[in-house]
Amino acid sequence: MKKILITGSSGLIGSEVCMYFANKGWEIYGLDNNQRAVFFGEQGDTRWNQKRLQTTLKNFRHHEMDIRNREGILKLVKDIAPDAIIHTAAQPSHDKAANIPFDDFDTNAVGTFNLLEATRQHSTSVPFVHMSTNKVYGDAPNEIPMVELDSRWDYADNTYRNGIPETFRIDHSKHSLFGASKVAADVCVQEYGRYFNMPTACLRGGCLTGPNHTGVELHGFLSYLIRCNLEEKEYTIFGYKGKQVRDNIHSYDVANFINAFIEAPRIAEVYNIGGGKENTCSLLEAFELISGISGKPMKYRYDKNNRSGDHICYYSDLRKMRSHYPGWAITKDLNTTFTEIYQSWISRNSKK
Ligand SMILES: NC(=O)c1ccc[n+]([C@@H]2O[C@H](COP(=O)([O-])OP(=O)(O)OC[C@H]3O[C@@H](n4cnc5c(N)ncnc54)[C@H](O)[C@@H]3O)[C@@H](O)[C@H]2O)c1
Repeated sequence: MKKILITGSSGLIGSEVCMYFANKGWEIYGLDNNQRAVFFGEQGDTRWNQKRLQTTLKNFRHHEMDIRNREGILKLVKDIAPDAIIHTAAQPSHDKAANIPFDDFDTNAVGTFNLLEATRQHSTSVPFVHMSTNKVYGDAPNEIPMVELDSRWDYADNTYRNGIPETFRIDHSKHSLFGASKVAADVCVQEYGRYFNMPTACLRGGCLTGPNHTGVELHGFLSYLIRCNLEEKEYTIFGYKGKQVRDNIHSYDVANFINAFIEAPRIAEVYNIGGGKENTCSLLEAFELISGISGKPMKYRYDKNNRSGDHICYYSDLRKMRSHYPGWAITKDLNTTFTEIYQSWISRNSKK
């Protein structure tokens, strides 16, 4: 039986890939220490998701370990000797990083480096998939001329009509400390690929979402927004008139792409992964969509100060992913994703 090591296994993407590869008959080694609860408090606690995996997946083993534990990581990778590694553990919040700079850098940059070196010492032919972020581009996408439409911003420059490509520059812009620690990790993952000829991939995520996100205000945009609507809590819009645009991809479609890469890995690749232009929405449009599903009006307030370095409009150009892996496609559109998050909230709360 093939073995896969998945870091951040209790998180949104980690848990999705655990289920995906378990269904394909792989032996799953999950690694998570519920650090999300340390970063975001009780609302970020992911133990429920860990328990769900432990009770529903037959070939799942949980390892309570911190990716900053260098000796532990080197030994774990050696002992497991996995056939593939998916690295999703991270301090994931743009805004949180400035309050916890050492934890952010040590987790995102050094933790990734520990895993890369552990992988190289184990085998240079094992696929290593790293979840990177569109924040590696910093706020440079905001330099693209924009057009203001009724409910959203869009690119006025036709060059970007399909979205932001992987060749977009990553420096000379404001990243937040989170974006900077993720750039460090992204470049190291590419370097292990190029220098050691290893099959590594950086997936630069737009908004990754799905029913198993433990959404909090500082991370997990759609999951948090939908929760506010359902709990009739006030949501705060930070700047850009609520017209800021994000492309949203369901975690299942991320898992599907990771599988395509692991089945036919390439050296030192980078992909922008998101819902693409078809699955974009602005905050104002997201309010409408969820209100239409739940029947509840969205309560919100407007703070005219945008989050530092926040994108005005961002959507991923998916053409490189599609050309390298033509069998991959988005299977869950925006409406399906909203509905799944809504239904899972209803079912979790009816059990309380
Ligand atoms: N969700 C998004 O919108 C989004 C967008 C772009 C990129 N990403 C990237 O995708 C990856 C996964 O994101 P997610 O939304 O699933 O995050 P998540 O917070 O839901 O999951 C991450 C998991 O990693 C664990 N973790 C954190 N630090 C750890 C440490 N030091 N040791 C062990 N475990 C640790 C957490 O407890 C959590 O369960 C991250 O790298 C994130 O930066 C996410």
